[in-house]
Amino acid sequence: MNLTLFVWRQKNFDDPGKLEQYQAANVSPDMSFLEMLDELNEQLVKEGKEPIAFDHDCREGICGTCSQVINGIPHGGQERTTVCQLHMRKFKDGDSIYIEPWRAKAFPIIKDLIVDRSALDRIIQAGGYISAHTGGVSDANAILIPKPDADMAMDAAECIGCGACIAACPNGSAMLFTAAKVTQLAMLPQGKVEAARRVCVMTDAMLEAGFGNCTNHYECQAVCPKGIKVSFIAKLNREFIKARLPL
Ligand code: SF4
Ligand code: FES
Repeated sequence: MNLTLFVWRQKNFDDPGKLEQYQAANVSPDMSFLEMLDELNEQLVKEGKEPIAFDHDCREGICGTCSQVINGIPHGGQERTTVCQLHMRKFKDGDSIYIEPWRAKAFPIIKDLIVDRSALDRIIQAGGYISAHTGGVSDANAILIPKPDADMAMDAAECIGCGACIAACPNGSAMLFTAAKVTQLAMLPQGKVEAARRVCVMTDAMLEAGFGNCTNHYECQAVCPKGIKVSFIAKLNREFIKARLPL
């Protein structure tokens, strides 16, 4: 396939940035999207030009670093698929593809397609952990947990912290991410001990980082590569009300 790419190039945070046009020739449908960009970068280096900076690590849909908006949709619009797992067979010969970074106030652009997602780390640092003494591995297995609760905790734990939910939200809200992290721990006996404090400090950290509020657009659920549902936001809200309201 021969493709026309429009890629966001931005030297640093202060640079206004712009879309630049590139031709990608002889692209195999079996290449991943990132392999296609690797080849383009090799071509740019050979021509003495600056390669395109983009984030990636596992290339297996696990780490959540491959943050690109492709044709206006975070992760490119293939259901439950991260950019690294997207393949060029999704596109047609002659297509034009627009590639941009996550766009949200809390995610400043570092360079080209790379954004600073440390705001998500600050939410986790605020309360996304268990500090109670919970014993060894065998102790955890000795505590019986109802199957629906264990399933819900595991579903929430699928969140890979990619930030696509924030990039898709017109409010730049991190509610889906925070809800997944709060729910994952609140469903289990080890996490319940600190659940009230956790939901308060994590939502405070979310607002301090500059994320907006949820107004039920559901765009987050539509782009989440791990199928995290907005029902987790309802769980977050219930945990928040329980923690804040006097008994
Ligand atoms: S909820 Fe989904 S879209 Fe949001 S950070 Fe987690 S995995 Fe990514
Ligand atoms: S590079 Fe790890 S999820 Fe895409």
